[in-house]
This record gives sequence, structure tokens and C-alpha cells, in this order.
Amino acid sequence: MRLLVTGGAGFIGSNFVHHAVANTDHHVTVLDALTYAGNRASLEGLPSGRVEFVQGDITDAPLVSSLFAQADAVVHYAAESHNDNSLHDPRPFLDTNIVGTYTLLEAARRHDVRFHHISTDEVYGDLELDDPERFTESTPYNPSSPYSSTKAGSDLLVRAWVRSFGVRATISNCSNNYGPYQHVEKFIPRQITNVIRGIRPKLYGAGENVRDWIHADDHSSAVLTILEKGVIGETYLIGADGERDNKSVVATILTLMGRPADAYDHVTDRAGHDLRYAIDSTKLRRELGWRPSFGDFDAGLAATIDWYRSHEEWWAPSKVTTEAFYAGKGQ
Ligand code: NAD
Ligand code: DAU
Repeated sequence: MRLLVTGGAGFIGSNFVHHAVANTDHHVTVLDALTYAGNRASLEGLPSGRVEFVQGDITDAPLVSSLFAQADAVVHYAAESHNDNSLHDPRPFLDTNIVGTYTLLEAARRHDVRFHHISTDEVYGDLELDDPERFTESTPYNPSSPYSSTKAGSDLLVRAWVRSFGVRATISNCSNNYGPYQHVEKFIPRQITNVIRGIRPKLYGAGENVRDWIHADDHSSAVLTILEKGVIGETYLIGADGERDNKSVVATILTLMGRPADAYDHVTDRAGHDLRYAIDSTKLRRELGWRPSFGDFDAGLAATIDWYRSHEEWWAPSKVTTEAFYAGKGQ
């Protein structure tokens, strides 16, 4: 199969390309604009006969159309992905997440290409800490931030293009990913690289917010499963039962890195900070037979710490600008 992967030089997209090359015979073309979040080095070492890289924007309709004409299926990861950035400047989120997804859907319609849309559990809003319920495919949409509202908008566009134009699309909404190649603006790599640099980790507010962690490689295997067996028009939630509060994640990072578990600082909270996400992935497991492989979060975290320790050349160029951005906001 000829796969077109948008955003394949980003965190989860590049993990997916590595996973697809290792586990399938698909030929992969990556379309990525190489924004501040994209890194060509994340695709180094892949066989050139299996992976082709095209630098370009998903809002560029002629380019997108020419690439869809040569693809059997498209997996759409490209997005502006960081909540804190969306609070600072929402505009690029509207351009890429809404107009970009619209541009891809029009090409999918014109060329009748199978389309898989990557989305987030944040479209469902947040849960109370003691709520016994978790998000399911029928939870009503209730996004909180400019980021999550543009992702919710993009999901609704996909649903409309399936119903109105017969586009062969599926959607997945995944929980928080961790693993190699994640930008240092995000929580886990920020704290790991802080500790490497001798900076104390920074917890927003009281640090009681809960995220449902999944290794990026498990996200990739779930997406391949949906591409292969998913029912057109359906949505699948992806999660690995990995709920942890931020305080305990930071304490684990510090302990694994040989520091006292409480050697962190509390900083200004994120505006509108979602309290808790939790995914019920029963549908994906029961109907398509998917299972996660990374059962042990602490072991996955230890491997991720090793990766950042041995890939300083990959993250160091972004660290200074990222920390300058946070310092300006008291974070
Ligand atoms: P990322 O920010 O690491 O990567 C995004 C990639 O998209 C970058 O390579 C960037 O260069 C590219 N890109 C941005 N705008 C573009 C444009 N206009 N045209 C072409 N390329 C463009 O993001 P990520 O964390 O890897 O997230 C990937 C996808 O997964 C997003 O759709 C996000 O909403 C979704 N998601 C992320 C998580 C998570 O925990 N990170 C969880 C669930 C879903
Ligand atoms: O749930 C899926 C979502 O997960 C994806 O859709 C997003 O693209 C992805 O960025 C992620 O969103 P979060 O906002 O949950 O991730 P982030 O890594 O920014 O923050 C995780 C938690 O850690 C959150 O509660 C905020 C907190 N945090 C974050 C940073 C950067 C801190 O306490 N300190 C920090 O320095």
C-alpha cells in the first residue's frame, strides 16, 4: 500500500513512520511543513526506498491533490498540537487544524482515497477526579482550549465529508502520548531535559491534573489496526489505561534520574487547565482486537529518559527558545 502520512516529521507521526516501516510492507510518503515542531532528523535511518519526504503545507491544495493522486491511503497527523501555544496565538491552529483538514478532505473526496484522521481525547473536555466514568465514543464533545476546539472542529468536518460526500474515512481519538522524538515543550520531555540541564521540573498549579498516558508505539499499532480493519465512518478511542497525576509523573522522573522525588517547583497554572482525561478503549479492543504492548509506564518512562540522555543533539536546539517562551509566562 502507498501511504501518505501528514505531519510525519512530528512526534507521533515520526513514531508511526518508524513503526509502519518495521511492521508492514507499505511505502510511506511524508508530507510535513517542518514548522518549529517538525524535525527531519526524526526520520533519519529509515530506508530511502521505503520512505519519501515532501516538505509542504497541508493547506496547499494543488500539492495535496498531486500527492493524494499517488496514494492508496492517508493518515493525517499534521496539526498545531500544543495547548499552551494555542492560548498565546490561536490563529495557526485554525489554519492548520481546520483549513488544513478541510483541504485534505476535499482531496480525499476528489481522488476517492481512504482517509484516517488522528484526533485527541481533549475534544471531550475534562472529567472530575472522582468521576467513575471515562470517555467513550458517545461522550458529547465539550472542548476547552483553542487547540482542542479546532481538533473538535476538524473531527466534525471529517464526519460531514463521510456523510455528505461518501469519503472513506475513520477517526481515532487518543490520550496523552509519551516516547522518543517528542518536542521539549511537552510535559514529560520538558521535565526530563530540565533535570539533565540541572533545572528543577515545573508543575502547573497544584499538579493534581490527571492524564492517561500511552506509549507512542502503542498509538501507532492502534492506527495500523484501524486502517486495516476499521469500519468506514466509525470513531475509535485509543488508550492504554495509564491514568497518572502530574505530581506522580514528575516524582517518578526525578526518582528514575537519581534526584529527590520532591525536587520540583510549582509554577503559574495553565488558563482553563483541563483537570482529568481518561479513555475507555473497549470498542477498539473488542471490535478490532487491538491490545497495547507497553503495560509498564515506569519502564516506558525509563526508556524515554535514556532516549533523551542519548539524543541531546536532537532536542538541544529547541530547549533554549522553549524555556524562554515559558519564562515569559511565569512557567
Ligand atoms: P507535533 O506538534 O509533534 O507534530 C506536528 C507535525 O505537523 C510537525 O511535524 C509539524 O511540522 C507538522 N505540521 C504542522 N502544521 C503543518 C501544516 N500546515 N502542514 C504540514 N505539516 C504541518 O504533534 P504530535 O504531538 O505528534 O501530534 C500529532 C497529531 O496527534 C495531532 O493531530 C494531535 O492533535 C494528535 N494527538 C496528539 C497527542 C499527544 O499526546 N501528543 C495525543 C492524541 C492526539
Ligand atoms: O490528551 C491528548 C493531548 O495531550 C494531545 O491532544 C495534545 O496534542 C498533547 O499536547 C497533550 O495535551 P496536554 O495539554 O495534556 O499535554 P502537555 O504535555 O502540554 O501537558 C500535560 C500535563 O502536564 C498538563 O496537565 C499540563 C501539565 N504541565 C505541562 C507542562 C508543559 C505541567 O505541569 N508543567 C509543564 O511544564
